[in-house]
Amino acid sequence: MQENTKIRPQAEERYREELAALAAADTENKKPQGWKLSPRAVRDFILGRREPLEWEGREVRVNKKYLGNDALVERCIITLAGNRGLMLVGDPGTAKTMLSELLSAAISGVSTNTVQGTAGTTEDMIKYSWNYALLLANGPTRQALVPAPLYTGMEKGILTRFEEITRTPAEIQDSLISVMSDKVMNVPELGDEGLLFARPGFNVIGTANTRDKGVNEMSSALKRRFNFETVQPVRDVKLEKEIILNEVRGLASEAGLRMEPDEEAAALLAATFHELREGVSSTGQRVDSPGSVMSTAEAVSVYYQTMMSAWYYGNGKMDMGCMVQNLTGAVLKESREDLEKLKSYFSTVVRDKSEREGGLWKSYYEARRQLR
Ligand SMILES: Nc1ncnc2c1ncn2[C@@H]1O[C@H](COP(=O)(O)OP(=O)(O)O)[C@@H](O)[C@H]1O
Ligand SMILES: [Mg+2]
Repeated sequence: MQENTKIRPQAEERYREELAALAAADTENKKPQGWKLSPRAVRDFILGRREPLEWEGREVRVNKKYLGNDALVERCIITLAGNRGLMLVGDPGTAKTMLSELLSAAISGVSTNTVQGTAGTTEDMIKYSWNYALLLANGPTRQALVPAPLYTGMEKGILTRFEEITRTPAEIQDSLISVMSDKVMNVPELGDEGLLFARPGFNVIGTANTRDKGVNEMSSALKRRFNFETVQPVRDVKLEKEIILNEVRGLASEAGLRMEPDEEAAALLAATFHELREGVSSTGQRVDSPGSVMSTAEAVSVYYQTMMSAWYYGNGKMDMGCMVQNLTGAVLKESREDLEKLKSYFSTVVRDKSEREGGLWKSYYEARRQLR
């Protein structure tokens, strides 16, 4: 097995071949200035291509990475080619971060020019700070300036990602306003040389969770600098199963788990997440939704946990008892009281399915003893 040097390489590295093949085949002359790929090729990178590409004497497949709303992805790409930033809002685990990484990797060739928004984010972490040794020795010069992601994005003509922007105080968020409208940043300490004009290719992608309070507190001046796109949770059980399988395959191969995921277990987990989230079973029974976000990302994690146990401790088969334990962990993140809701889901919906469909549903129902 090849040893990885990174737990999780950045998107541009993970998909290096795909991006190179797309660039080589990208004969579009409609390419916004400063972009590595045309909007059409960016779209293909995220939504996949039917035919493989010929590249350096071999075939390179470009797989679909974001499953769900294709039109949303197209709108995001078009927004980034324009004057306004892109703000992806939605529930946690709806692939906002993933989309932002993929867009940056395809458009700018880098996805790591990122500010992580927290309550402690300061303007320094967004714009620039100083190397104090150099500042004291030579005064304020460009050499003494330490660029932060907004500065870097403007200077290099690449995208700046701002994750969880609404977690930062509104007055700090507002330091983006003048840069986003005038595309110029003033560094007063540098005097005459203190004006940084953004190169073409620069823009900002923000993400914000609707569960964190905050989007409402964003100033309307800043809101006007962004096009907002709401990313919806996956509503289709089959699609959700596909996402779980895709993601888990990727994770397993990165970690060196030589184990093919079990489709039936993925289908069952997708159904559980879907029914708990929507509050109704596939047969129309009412289900009490727990307070925690039953996100696809969480489903992927429950599946992968169970798969790792099977690989390291078990016989390579997905153990339903183990899956129920991991599911409990995911559901009870918000409140212990949700345990009763999960128990009642098992004693109604899962019981019915175990009687009607048998198979893995049966062992799933039998594993309800793990619900503690
Ligand atoms: N529509 C989707 N298409 C593909 N993967 C998805 C989708 N929705 C969720 N996922 C999975 O869930 C993860 C979402 O994580 P993330 O991007 O961090 O979500 P967010 O930033 O919205 O909280 C992705 O990495 C992917 O594994
Ligand atoms: Mg995120």
